Amino acid sequence: MRRPRLLITRPLPEPVHARAAALFDLTIRKETGPTTAADLSAALRDHDAILPSLGDVFSPDVFAGAPAPRCRILANFGVGVSHIDLAAAAGAGVAVTNTPGAVTGPTADIAMLLLLMTARRAGEGERLVRSGTWQGWHPVQLLGQDVSGSTVGIVGMGRIGQEVARRAAAGFGMRVLFHNRSPKAVPGVETEQVPLDELLQRADFVVLTVPGGSETRHLIDARALTLMRPHTHLINVSRGEVVDEAALIRALEGRQIAGAALDVYEFEPAVPAALRERDDVVLLPHLGSATRAAREGMGMTALDNLEAFFLGRVPENKVA
Ligand code: DGY
Repeated sequence: MRRPRLLITRPLPEPVHARAAALFDLTIRKETGPTTAADLSAALRDHDAILPSLGDVFSPDVFAGAPAPRCRILANFGVGVSHIDLAAAAGAGVAVTNTPGAVTGPTADIAMLLLLMTARRAGEGERLVRSGTWQGWHPVQLLGQDVSGSTVGIVGMGRIGQEVARRAAAGFGMRVLFHNRSPKAVPGVETEQVPLDELLQRADFVVLTVPGGSETRHLIDARALTLMRPHTHLINVSRGEVVDEAALIRALEGRQIAGAALDVYEFEPAVPAALRERDDVVLLPHLGSATRAAREGMGMTALDNLEAFFLGRVPENKVA
């Protein structure tokens, strides 16, 4: 029987390549950067399946460039699918899956890393030591904010939000507030579900773990930022577009909030100089799921989804 033609758009961990090669007539694109729109349209025309990732933007135009495509499924490598126009995919008869489980723990870890870094001014401290200008310890140097016993407000109580709640409560004795569209409870963790405005007013650390896309675009805008207090820190491990970056810069400049710690950016990978130049921000290059185990797990989950699809089953992580 003819094996389905699969395109993997960027190199993945080797065990994922090996399994994919055993299952599919496989092509692996060698470049690590995003695939162009023209190449994505061509891939839709020429392959039965594509395993894309963040930055491979499947816009309505990309689908329009491949009428009645040969491709029947996009098995995304990653949980976030806001780079894929789901309505256009459905219109073209292309299914979409994602890889939620593998990213959960590592992304929650990065949220806690960012929270600790911004609270304790770790980035500033590291830059000071690296600059060679550190004159030594003194009693009022780089004073930060206590994490233990403070209040975290988690926006979006999905898998990652729940893992942040567990770490914050069990590891740091934090009070956990959260906002979620539907009622939620986190087994084993004492939490309080509140409206978003109340969360922004009460939390010392606001952690964003909502999915990206049009529904959450600019959820944190100028108005939301005015509700936060001058000692509050904003942490974003979701998608850059959830925060109005220009409004965030103004809020930092006006000292409306104490700091921001970001793993994702509105126009990623562009990061405005106005952020890069500030000492009160921590900036990571989208490291949320960047552990060996997570990246291998994401690849294997994407292949599970593909295998199920071509066996005629509904893939476990079908999002559209
Ligand atoms: C995810 O899983 O969505 C990560 O952000 C990588 O895309």
